[in-house]
Amino acid sequence: MRSTKTYHVRAQLQADYEVVCTDNILDPASDELVGRGRQPGTHAQRRFIVLDQAVDAIYGNSIRAYFEHHRVECRYLVLPGGEQRKVMDSVVAVAAALDSFGIDRRREPVISIGGGVLLDLVGVATTLYRRGIPHLRVPTTLIGLVDAAIGVKTGVNHGCHKNRLGTFQSPTAVLLDRRFLASLDERHLRNGAAEMIKLAIVRDERLFELLEEDGDRLVEERFQGRSPAGERVASEVLHRSVRGMLAELEPNLWERELDRLVDFGHSVGPAIEMLAGGDLLHGESVAIDMAVFTTVAAHRGLLDDKAARRIIELLHRFALPTDHALLDEEVAGRALADTVRHRDGRQRLPVPTGIGKAVFLNDVTQDELRSALRHNRAEAIS
Ligand SMILES: NC(=O)c1ccc[n+]([C@@H]2O[C@H](COP(=O)([O-])OP(=O)(O)OC[C@H]3O[C@@H](n4cnc5c(N)ncnc54)[C@H](O)[C@@H]3O)[C@@H](O)[C@H]2O)c1
Repeated sequence: MRSTKTYHVRAQLQADYEVVCTDNILDPASDELVGRGRQPGTHAQRRFIVLDQAVDAIYGNSIRAYFEHHRVECRYLVLPGGEQRKVMDSVVAVAAALDSFGIDRRREPVISIGGGVLLDLVGVATTLYRRGIPHLRVPTTLIGLVDAAIGVKTGVNHGCHKNRLGTFQSPTAVLLDRRFLASLDERHLRNGAAEMIKLAIVRDERLFELLEEDGDRLVEERFQGRSPAGERVASEVLHRSVRGMLAELEPNLWERELDRLVDFGHSVGPAIEMLAGGDLLHGESVAIDMAVFTTVAAHRGLLDDKAARRIIELLHRFALPTDHALLDEEVAGRALADTVRHRDGRQRLPVPTGIGKAVFLNDVTQDELRSALRHNRAEAIS
């Protein structure tokens, strides 16, 4: 006789963290960096800090002086930035260094200070290490500030796939200090702007207008507010971007729902980014993808020509690409098929229906992709 007994286990995954827009976190008078993640009743004694190499070269002395001032014993691990380093080997290197430091599993949050690549890979390492240790994130690039640092996704690339290995992580806290952008080169600023433009297109018309009106000034002043008008607009676009991103993410943090507006730009983009190797930055591949599905929407009559033109022009104003030589219909078709596997059997393609508005499509055909690609290539050449 067969006997079956079923035990049902049900639990909720909690996330509880703050994203703090702060100023000058390396000022010794601030205790944000050293105080976050400190257990009540304990003093910060030791910290393991992972630094992006470029950040170390520019801010390393101030970072070390900050922690010395607060009498914190630190171990620094410096890793190069760049997509090529976003691999499992880097995660393993972090784990080995954590072992050698002998990190306390609960009381010594790892602090990572760097771009999206560093935050993503340290995120993987700190969720895998002893099945999860606290991680305080400090982004230093625009993509990091408005996107990579503030949600719960971590990841590294694997094989020829973007973010194929990854985890969800509720960070200890996220500290946003736009002063780091002062040293970021123009291409990476424009690259980060692509994620802001994405949010503007799918949900925030005012953000779109601000980027149209003041994009040049923002890049020129590196979001540092070197003039009163520049300060006003830098502060507003950053706050709108962070607020908008969190408003999209928070109700669906663990991605139970796969119709996600924030996936605009991420349907064929990741595949073309990987295919192009170091030739395309993440935001640049997002821009190309946004251009493809903007044209698909326009060709379907979902988006009027004027709005479609404004979107493409804004991408061009930020010197972002809208086409790439390697993106042909076969590549796009394969990328879309992989996206469908990622999105539980449906395309779930966010496409704009106006500035600040979008819908999801599930029936985009290969013919439509081909025609959008041809159109964008012709426009890019002319
Ligand atoms: N987890 C997420 O939700 C999420 C969201 C968006 C993007 N991402 C990921 O983020 C990555 C892209 O991030 P990124 O553009 O920051 O790349 P990155 O981390 O490689 O940084 C870009 C370059 O800038 C340098 N750098 C960093 N900070 C600097 C500073 N303040 N001054 C001067 N140079 C500096 C780095 O060394 C690197 O060379 C991609 O891998 C993407 O997939 C993740």
